[in-house]
Amino acid sequence: MAIGCVILAGGEGKRMMSERPKVLCEVLKKPMLGWVIDAARSFGFDEIGVVTGYKRELVEEYLQTYSGNLSTFYQEKQLGTGDAVKQALELIKGMDRVCVLNGDAPFIDADTLRKSLEHHEKSGADVSVITAEIENPKGYGRIIRENGRFTAIREQKDCSPIEDEICEVNSGAYWFNAPALVNALPRLTTNNANGEFYLTDCVELIGNASAYTSENPDIVLGANTRRDLLALNEKARQKVFDKLMENGVSFITTDGIIIGADVKIGVDTLILPNTIILGKTTIGKGCEIGANSFVTDCTIGDNVTLNNVKATDAVVEDSVKIGPFAQLRPGTVIRRGVKIGDFVEIKNSDIGENTSVAHLTYLGDSDVGRGVNFGCGCVTANYDGINKFRTEIGDNAFIGCNTNLIAPVKVGENATTGAGSTITTAVPPNSLAVERSQTRIIENWQKNFKRKKR
Ligand code: UD1
Ligand code: CA
Repeated sequence: MAIGCVILAGGEGKRMMSERPKVLCEVLKKPMLGWVIDAARSFGFDEIGVVTGYKRELVEEYLQTYSGNLSTFYQEKQLGTGDAVKQALELIKGMDRVCVLNGDAPFIDADTLRKSLEHHEKSGADVSVITAEIENPKGYGRIIRENGRFTAIREQKDCSPIEDEICEVNSGAYWFNAPALVNALPRLTTNNANGEFYLTDCVELIGNASAYTSENPDIVLGANTRRDLLALNEKARQKVFDKLMENGVSFITTDGIIIGADVKIGVDTLILPNTIILGKTTIGKGCEIGANSFVTDCTIGDNVTLNNVKATDAVVEDSVKIGPFAQLRPGTVIRRGVKIGDFVEIKNSDIGENTSVAHLTYLGDSDVGRGVNFGCGCVTANYDGINKFRTEIGDNAFIGCNTNLIAPVKVGENATTGAGSTITTAVPPNSLAVERSQTRIIENWQKNFKRKKR
């Protein structure tokens, strides 16, 4: 059986007061549309189509971050959710079952999709709507039942006062038997308070409908305003904490901590306040992350300490200590046992095992061996204003304080550079390179100097 998914992402979302389409507004720094696509991907549809419309180029640009089976359909005018689904007719016709999802309801999940499909198949209905009972149903389509039988969805603006009281609402997620949907779509009218083609009218048109009430009412939550978006963020933030704690992650307090939904963290790792961990970051066991650390798209091993660290797109192996006040920029690999101290910046470099970069140092485009010691204030001059060059440092080298390494340059194994040296040529293994003039002593200097001035 071919199972497809159509995600609606064509609306503008005026009340969000954004220059971007609403579906790109973020929950835990990930667009709402991304949450929906990820849920659909994790369910495992044969095909997923996204209907774009308002500022389609921005939505399509975001979709570029996904690889694989995502097709897009363009809705030229935002004539309603029914009209949006019509654009994906080609996809629908090739399927047996079609799931329609709203791109602005980020908490739909694969488990709910699985259970609702099972329900749909058992019920023998041509359309099944995923519903939930919520305290404040305002703004949502209400589930209308006659003698217990689900017959229609009534939009807020079209509700009678009695219907207005109904707390079971439409999540905006549905299962259709594809032929029934193909048959109903051309019969939709704009005969309603908004003058739009409502997808929800398919329930009455198809007739043979069932409702699946989700165990998890959060799946209906959407955001129309910034206030709604904040509420979703707070809810998502707590959900992430709950899941992490179930998996053995520790918090002393969650104050100022934000962790993205796709972040993975191992047991006995402690996250300290004001720490933000985002993207596809993975952190191992027994680490201490924070306080005040900002980690994005990193792979961090076990027993790592990051104290006041900003790290982006970097790999940190086991038993590394970094901070306070250090930055790892993209393309950096820090090998096992390395120590990185305060005011150190490392970019696009590979730092070998047990190397120490203790203070005030910049390493860019460098390949550093094992057991290297950097004194305070070392700099790789990796950029001549036009091109960038690499610096290579062999195992167990000793880079004296305030050494400038003018790339491209190579320091051999076990070599030493004298403090204050500017190294422009290769340093052979086991040698000392000093580039420094003799200290001149001028006696009575201060006295003479002051006398002259007077
Ligand atoms: C819709 C449902 C409502 C349900 C609610 C759940 C209808 C008529 N109503 O209302 O029953 O309770 O979702 O969140 O379907 N979109 C398009 N093209 C359009 C219009 C909308 O692609 O022309 C997209 C939007 O980008 C959005 C989704 O469809 O992702 C839902 O549209 P929205 O206008 O937010 O519908 P609601 O009023 O929330
Ligand atoms: Ca909505």
